[in-house]
Amino acid sequence: MPRPFKEPKLVIASHNPGKVREIGDLLSPFGVEVVSAGDLGLPEPVEDGLTFIANAEIKARTAALASNLPALADDSGLAVDDLGGEPGIYSARWAGPAKDFGIAMKKAEQALENKNNRSAHFACALTLCWPDGHMESFEGHVQGTMVWPPRGDKGFGYDPTFMATGHHITFAEMDPAAKHAISHRAEAFRKLVDACFDPVS
Ligand code: IMP
Repeated sequence: MPRPFKEPKLVIASHNPGKVREIGDLLSPFGVEVVSAGDLGLPEPVEDGLTFIANAEIKARTAALASNLPALADDSGLAVDDLGGEPGIYSARWAGPAKDFGIAMKKAEQALENKNNRSAHFACALTLCWPDGHMESFEGHVQGTMVWPPRGDKGFGYDPTFMATGHHITFAEMDPAAKHAISHRAEAFRKLVDACFDPVS
């Protein structure tokens, strides 16, 4: 049985403003006060796990133990089929120290040159960790295609170069609510809510 979440306050264990905003939006119906790891000045752990879930667990655990509050971490990324799932867990690193996703998207495009299959998916692992170390983890995905050139300015990361299956605009051209309805993060979040949060009345 997953542990129910009953606490009034939660740390979003991320220093990425795009993710903090999206997770904050997703949590807003549940009346939980949220604060980010960045706001609390918590340390950023080394993400040396080999899966999205392993890295989400490292981040959630570090934040929960350092803050003595429950913490929710997201580890996510883009996996391109014909690149053997790259950039995958290294999605952030492809953008380099300047976190320049123009560079990361160009790198993916160059690697895709001469490939016929542009299929890709975003994956998101969410881990909720309590200060006693108990963890619950969930994963979500969204399938799509890599587009070039990048389009749109509403999202973050690789959004301008990703078009979800069945759509004709990129994630960065979608209104945030439309992205939230279908995204990898939304699917992982639905699983988390079903397992750990009381139904919203
Ligand atoms: P990490 O989970 O902090 O290691 O970083 C994952 C990276 O994957 C982010 O910095 C983004 O570049 C990328 N990523 C994850 N989710 C999304 C998304 O919803 N849109 C665009 N890029 C994403």
